[in-house]
Amino acid sequence: MPAYGIVGAQWGDEGKGKVVDFLAEKADMVVRFSGGSNAGHTVINDQGKFALHLVPSGIFWPHADAVIGPGVVVNPGTLLDELRGLQERGVATDRLYVSDHAHVVMPYHIQLDLLEEEARGAKAIGTTGRGIGPAYVDKIARIGIRIGDLLDADYLRGRLEAAVRQKNQVLTKIYGAEPIDFDQLFDECIEHGEALRSYVTSVESRIEVALAKGANILLEGAQGAMLDLDHGTYPYVTSSSVSIGGACTGLGIPPSEVRGIVGVFKAYSTRVGAGPLTAELDDEVGSKIRELAWEYGTTTGRPRRVGWFDGVAARYSASINGFTSCVLTRLDVLDGISPVKVCVAYEVDGKRLTSFPSRLRVQERCQPVWEELPGWTAPTAGITDRAQLPAEALAYVARIEELVRCPVDVISTGPKREESIVVRPILPDRAG
Ligand code: GDP
Ligand code: IMO
Ligand code: MG
Repeated sequence: MPAYGIVGAQWGDEGKGKVVDFLAEKADMVVRFSGGSNAGHTVINDQGKFALHLVPSGIFWPHADAVIGPGVVVNPGTLLDELRGLQERGVATDRLYVSDHAHVVMPYHIQLDLLEEEARGAKAIGTTGRGIGPAYVDKIARIGIRIGDLLDADYLRGRLEAAVRQKNQVLTKIYGAEPIDFDQLFDECIEHGEALRSYVTSVESRIEVALAKGANILLEGAQGAMLDLDHGTYPYVTSSSVSIGGACTGLGIPPSEVRGIVGVFKAYSTRVGAGPLTAELDDEVGSKIRELAWEYGTTTGRPRRVGWFDGVAARYSASINGFTSCVLTRLDVLDGISPVKVCVAYEVDGKRLTSFPSRLRVQERCQPVWEELPGWTAPTAGITDRAQLPAEALAYVARIEELVRCPVDVISTGPKREESIVVRPILPDRAG
């Protein structure tokens, strides 16, 4: 029965890849439910260092199925490259399953993503340029192409003709760009479909069977709750339902089957792209953290904006997700920094706010209210036993638990799989 959501709780890049790879030791299935190759999930384990964009981070465990769910948008070329890269490094990919319902990210989606960003000028979102927004637009507009369609040439031809007709109008008349060559695109789609055929399946029924067997299923989130299409800092968001609700709609899994909802937080804040980040640090501490922690995007290589932990946003994220557990990553990055600060409230127009404001125009004007805590000098890096953490680090974790109102059940002290402290196990053992 049990499914466990592993959800990014801030602005993405919290370390979901590391956490999912670690927790998947006890999982029978690891499923991506939303987003696409805008995600970049880093995994470091005994097989090496990997940056995954579409393949679930459970792929390294031979006992686990890795599933790309219906709610994901899939660039077939990117997926095939990623699979090839894994196979070349000896990672088995025969337990990967791709939903026939997942939508395809087409070359014209990428082209439109870039053109739309350019047209936004100073108001650009700072998208990853992977075509994610335009692909979800077509899904909602019901002119999207699904992975299953790539396996049916006749059906695909009709669907693609309609889509290309519309896109060519937009490309040529609005953006003055070249039209798409239909035949070339159609052939490419058929080729991709053939290459993916053995992976494509009805994911909903696989999940149903797994749940009936009592399998442990990890629902691997992408992005972070503050980038959620409905609940994030709109329009500076991604185009999918990042939060736990997106796992249910993006997979066809009933909410009653979700036993645990795990929020992955990093010990401070980062954000790539535009949009409010109240706890942002524009000083040398911020630069120090960026360089120390190599806070550069896994997907685009862009420098990440850095800030202290934002307790107001964190509490909001916990409330829209209903976290039952938190995982705190990158505690080691704060080793040797003293004092450490947390943002405990916002101030705007002389008023103090402790709940996240609803309107972007208010979010943008909020100033952080800081609380200082003593830092720690003894390193936490690589520690695997909670008892060995310095008292100040424990106090910092306890303060975060208070602010989020949820226990921190796992603390990550380094990027490698084993650099983890389990305070309380999140998943039960596999049924066998
Ligand atoms: P994701 O998108 O949430 O999977 O996160 P990313 O992989 O984009 O970014 C997280 C970065 O932090 C990666 O470089 C990870 O290797 C690294 N990382 C994860 N957990 C820890 C940790 O506890 N300590 C340190 N120092 N690095 C970590
Ligand atoms: P993971 O899964 C961090 C951000 C982009 C941009 C906004 C919209 O690695 O945590 P999009 O390309 O989705 O239309 O861009 O969302 N963004 C991410 N930031 N981590 C991610 O994924 C992100 N995926 C999208 O930077 O601000
Ligand atoms: Mg990432």
